[in-house]
Amino acid sequence: MSPSIRVAVIAAGAMGSGVARVLTRNGVKVLTNLDNRSEATKKRAREAGMQDASFKEIGSTCDWVLSILPPSDAFALAEKFLQESAGSTRLAATPAPVFVDCNAVNPATVHRIADLFEKSASKFIDAGSMELSEVHSSLSGQTLYQFLARTSGPPSDDYNPTFYASAGNDSLLDSFVGLSKYGLKVSALKGEGAGIGDASALKMSYAGITKGTTALFSTMILAAHQSSPATADALLNELHASQPFLLKRITSAVPPMVPKAYRWVGEMEEIAGFVGEGEGEIYHGISKLYSRIEKGDAQDLAVLANFVDEAKKKQQ
Ligand SMILES: *[C@@H]1O[C@H](CO)[C@@H](O)[C@H](O)[C@H]1NC(C)=O
Ligand SMILES: *[C@@H]1O[C@H](CO)[C@@H](O)[C@H](O)[C@H]1NC(C)=O
Repeated sequence: MSPSIRVAVIAAGAMGSGVARVLTRNGVKVLTNLDNRSEATKKRAREAGMQDASFKEIGSTCDWVLSILPPSDAFALAEKFLQESAGSTRLAATPAPVFVDCNAVNPATVHRIADLFEKSASKFIDAGSMELSEVHSSLSGQTLYQFLARTSGPPSDDYNPTFYASAGNDSLLDSFVGLSKYGLKVSALKGEGAGIGDASALKMSYAGITKGTTALFSTMILAAHQSSPATADALLNELHASQPFLLKRITSAVPPMVPKAYRWVGEMEEIAGFVGEGEGEIYHGISKLYSRIEKGDAQDLAVLANFVDEAKKKQQ
């Protein structure tokens, strides 16, 4: 029996369409809005089984609206959705869709977005996705080059992260967790003090550790090589001798980072804001590193790729 729930995923970017694909494969009807979007986006949406709809239609027919966008667009989308769906008519018996912000925005921004929904019929859930895939990847430096040659988006077709969700309302959270039966991995963040903002705080903390350490590795490999190629070789040898688990992490985390760096620039700025003045400055620096990687300087990429390939040879 196909499920009767309807989900909107906005927008049909690489991540949004990845999430939509999981849902449509499980028989869920997934809507999105394709106004003013590029041909590439429209094609991606079609391939994920998404159907184009106005915000008004989304507001009047969907049970869930998942906002999955670059963090800088999150607030504007919530405002636009509320404005455009305001006039939508729904049977009084059918509740307005629950709006779920799945973006890598800092908790202060989530609170601003949640405030928009205070006076609306829609309930609001804060969600944050954990990109576990980067941890398990085992791409080589060479594969990294092939990626760069052919893609500017996330490499995986099977993007299916775990969404952690928080809200002030446990039964609302439980119904969101119910989407797990359609392939979405959802986990409720409940417990002492938990509420709106905490799923985002969790995401920032997790990404700050995983993407932060990947940035530290890359920064020091580049700095060592800038001193001299021999220094980078000696760094590799010393890590192999005394910190083999760190070297292993470098080989698994650095190559898949390169094609995603463009998305992490803004995310690191959000983390800087979350941590706050003082130590938060660390993440402004990390954002700069990802911005440098995004620019794709051939020598930088060659240094990282070569380091990873040499490390892999040692690990064999
Ligand atoms: C698309 O562009 C038009 C004209 O610039 C604008 O009025 C409209 O709001 C845009 N639609 C969306 C969904 O951004
Ligand atoms: C909590 O969510 C449930 C399910 O959506 C809803 O029925 C209930 O009214 C909500 N409670 C509050 C206080 O908003």
